[in-house]
Amino acid sequence: MSTKTIIEPFRIKSVEPIRWTTRAEREATLRVAHYNLFLLEADDVLIDLLTDSGTGAMSTHQWAGIMEGDESYAGSKSFHHFKRSVQDITGYTHVIPTHQGRAAERILFSVMCKPGHIVPNNTHFDTTRANVEFVGAEAVDLLPAEARQPETHLPFKGNMDIAALEQLIARVGRERIPLVMLTVTNNSGGGQPVSMENAKAVSAVCRKHAIPLYLDACRFAENAYFIKLREPGYGDKTPKQIAQEMFALGDGCTMSAKKDGMANIGGFLCTNDDLLARQQKDLLILTEGYPTYGGLAGRDLEAVAIGLQESLDEDYLRYRIASTAYLGSHIAEHGVPIVQPPGGHAIYIDAKAFLPHVPAAQFPGVALAAELYLEGGIRSVEIGSLMFAAAAKMELVRLAIPRRVYTQSHIDYVVEIILQVWQRRAQIRGLRLTYEAPFLRHFTARLAPVS
Ligand SMILES: Cc1ncc(COP(=O)(O)O)c(C=O)c1O
Repeated sequence: MSTKTIIEPFRIKSVEPIRWTTRAEREATLRVAHYNLFLLEADDVLIDLLTDSGTGAMSTHQWAGIMEGDESYAGSKSFHHFKRSVQDITGYTHVIPTHQGRAAERILFSVMCKPGHIVPNNTHFDTTRANVEFVGAEAVDLLPAEARQPETHLPFKGNMDIAALEQLIARVGRERIPLVMLTVTNNSGGGQPVSMENAKAVSAVCRKHAIPLYLDACRFAENAYFIKLREPGYGDKTPKQIAQEMFALGDGCTMSAKKDGMANIGGFLCTNDDLLARQQKDLLILTEGYPTYGGLAGRDLEAVAIGLQESLDEDYLRYRIASTAYLGSHIAEHGVPIVQPPGGHAIYIDAKAFLPHVPAAQFPGVALAAELYLEGGIRSVEIGSLMFAAAAKMELVRLAIPRRVYTQSHIDYVVEIILQVWQRRAQIRGLRLTYEAPFLRHFTARLAPVS
């Protein structure tokens, strides 16, 4: 493709109005929300970049599939369609549907982990970390030092530190590590991809020590496209072939179909281990539902079955990755510090460098996110000291792009608003906590400006 203009590879058949508000209205709503953008009403947001999770637009094929949904309690046709689609891509023996990714995580860790265990990952996502800790195990992030520097340009900044993995196994012993996880792409680490070479190396270490490897596969299609673009030897392969090769390196996966499943709800857990699958299904029945629906309607299973395949379409992936990069490069060229290079689903602004006068204890990421809302009604999310407390490695503001929802002119508007906030960054103040929950505190925290 030689044209410069990025076009959406779809036409729009149904539209949803978004609402303008005045700055005075936004000041009032932000106060009511205690400066926590999770507590805003969606109707008070103009461009919602809070998450790319479950916020995508479905295709005509998915909507048609919804009408085909078989709502039988057991053995529905839709489950078999779902299973075929998941197995076509992952190749795993057992496919267990769940209502979303964290339900798959809870079941996986409940069955495999106990107090004293350690779960290594390139970077645990917040729900993954919380679910590991909830069963009394320890979640360890093994990101190489250079990947923690936002400004460093590396093609595969989501890679796991292989030497650190070997050292951890040598130090604590194989018996304390029930599984290793690899998150593709690495969401909390900046939406950065993992190379096939790195995934192969992680897999080899796991095989050597007989430790199962599970992929946190939420953005497997975007990761596959980055491999196609950046890793020697993959340029002529399809995203699907690349994804299949990566899944073959593991023993199973957890998946939130709200991302590269292109659905508004759904997830799954896969494993090749018959015994584990039996235990996982028992737990599934207790809390999610019968193994052929796992907390989903038949129509949801259809939407995921179709969406998984659509996420691997090359025209779509080309546009998706180019549009995200466009947002990143247009703010970075004016000096806005971002995690480089731009990731697949989101742009991460380095709030520590954006607001050097705001210390981590005053949540620079939350303060910056609040300003983007005040300036232009944009909702983003902090990934830093509020989300991870002492475990925070960076102070980031994530602008996550919902799939197939916003056009390039929406993206141009976001660029304009960020640059306006950048101009007056010296006047932005930090925030202090006035309430926090015992875990996952960022969802419900209340804050106030420091005086
Ligand atoms: C890497 C990663 N893992 C797991 C999850 C959890 O998925 P869900 O929100 O469907 O529970 C997310 C969600 O954002 C994620 O980004």
